[in-house]
Amino acid sequence: MEKIIIFDTTLRDGEQAPGASLSSAEKLEIAHALSSLGIDVIEAGFPVSSPGELESVRQIAKSVKGRIICGLARAVKADIEAAARALKPAKHPRIHVFLATSKIHMQYKLKKAEDEILRLAVEGVRMARQHCADVEFSPEDASRTEREFLFKVVESVIKAGASTVNIPDTVGYTEPGEYAGLIRAIKENVPNINKAVISVHCHNDLGLAVANSLAAVKNGARQVECTVNGIGERAGNASLEEIVMNIRTRRDLFSEVDTNIDAKQIYKASRLVSKLTGFAVAPNKAIVGANAFRHESGIHQDGILKERSTYEIIRPEDVGFTGTGIVLGRHSGRHALSDRLKELGFKLSDSELDKVNSRFKALADKKKHIFDDDIISLVEDEIKLVKPLWKLVDFSIHSGTSVMPSAEVVLKYKNKIMPGKSTGDGPVDACFKAIDKITGVKCELQDYRIEAVTKGKDALGEVALKLKAKGKVVTARGSSTDVVESSVRAYINALNKIETI
Ligand code: KIV
Ligand code: ZN
Repeated sequence: MEKIIIFDTTLRDGEQAPGASLSSAEKLEIAHALSSLGIDVIEAGFPVSSPGELESVRQIAKSVKGRIICGLARAVKADIEAAARALKPAKHPRIHVFLATSKIHMQYKLKKAEDEILRLAVEGVRMARQHCADVEFSPEDASRTEREFLFKVVESVIKAGASTVNIPDTVGYTEPGEYAGLIRAIKENVPNINKAVISVHCHNDLGLAVANSLAAVKNGARQVECTVNGIGERAGNASLEEIVMNIRTRRDLFSEVDTNIDAKQIYKASRLVSKLTGFAVAPNKAIVGANAFRHESGIHQDGILKERSTYEIIRPEDVGFTGTGIVLGRHSGRHALSDRLKELGFKLSDSELDKVNSRFKALADKKKHIFDDDIISLVEDEIKLVKPLWKLVDFSIHSGTSVMPSAEVVLKYKNKIMPGKSTGDGPVDACFKAIDKITGVKCELQDYRIEAVTKGKDALGEVALKLKAKGKVVTARGSSTDVVESSVRAYINALNKIETI
């Protein structure tokens, strides 16, 4: 069985998605989740892009062990040196050098001829090799590059020391038959190709990123670059969960390959990335969407009851989707909660478990049935890497069709109790304005979304919002059975993030 190396770029290409802005602490949290998912290579960022980005890659390189940690660099000295600096603490560092090779990019973006590009690519790889034994090279826009030139570039960078050559479909333009042909052609026309791993990196502009990646795997690619939930530039990148589960589910078609991924952790990783980036997962999203394992029509439900395989090609539990099962209630103790948390893949310290347990008890008083998603949401809400400078003590609202909505909020800041009052367009707006009065921080609410985490009238409502203050934009979430409380918690979480990052 040959291994397909899974190269995750959620923290680099994924984070380039418009609107995504992760703090260093959040990136570190995601990197640890990727590591326990079994990702082989974690592309942690683009170190030269800012000092904060460099430091965030360095943190990941320092604390995520047992995985290859990769940093992106253009084929220029400053980028390569920044990547090398960021990756210094890593046991297994990789520098990923890229340079565009298509006519369009060379002519309009780089304003350089083929000879010059070839020289820079080789020099870039050589320079990276001086810092690191593991170097990957990407001829950006490879799928639109003249084939003969692409072969020459690939051969030359391998000679210069690249051990992985990535063939990006940068603008999501190719289609499976064409891309498969390109991978075959590279194998047939690049004499030293057996000295390197062929990698693929597909964007989803035409909805073909996963199909293209899989076609490449069938034709010899042995590394796939992808992101959790398929997030990324424009329409995103190939989705990690879809790549992995295609290979697992269609053993008949992929009998010679497999990945190291622990698929049971997929759902948890998906939720974490969605929560921290603020990008909701579409309900019909393959593998991780809320409806991916729901059967609505009577005929389907009947089939499922008789034999699950009639309408289910993946068992939800195989991707860690425990979905709608009722697991705990008011009578469940700390021990049962702790067991369930372990089954869901959370490793909490005693004090973290205490915090989650007291929120769980409060929730169980309000809500008869507690679902796995309720518990996940509580953990995500309670165990944060952000310092809780501002804490919610209490709030009350007055609202109705004939009164001006008003709110009274009480916050705690460094042991000081601080109350505030305001009116607003609605009870949520009144609460936010009251919080602004208390904190004195000028905030701009840029996005606000609310969704039910679980089913039933007593479902947890989760609020995701984006807040701008002190020149920073952050996303944050809050959850409760009361949507005003979810909103207040999300707003306070966002403020704490702004104060911490
Ligand atoms: O899409 C792309 O070409 C990239 C490269 C940097 C690999 O993200
Ligand atoms: Zn990309």
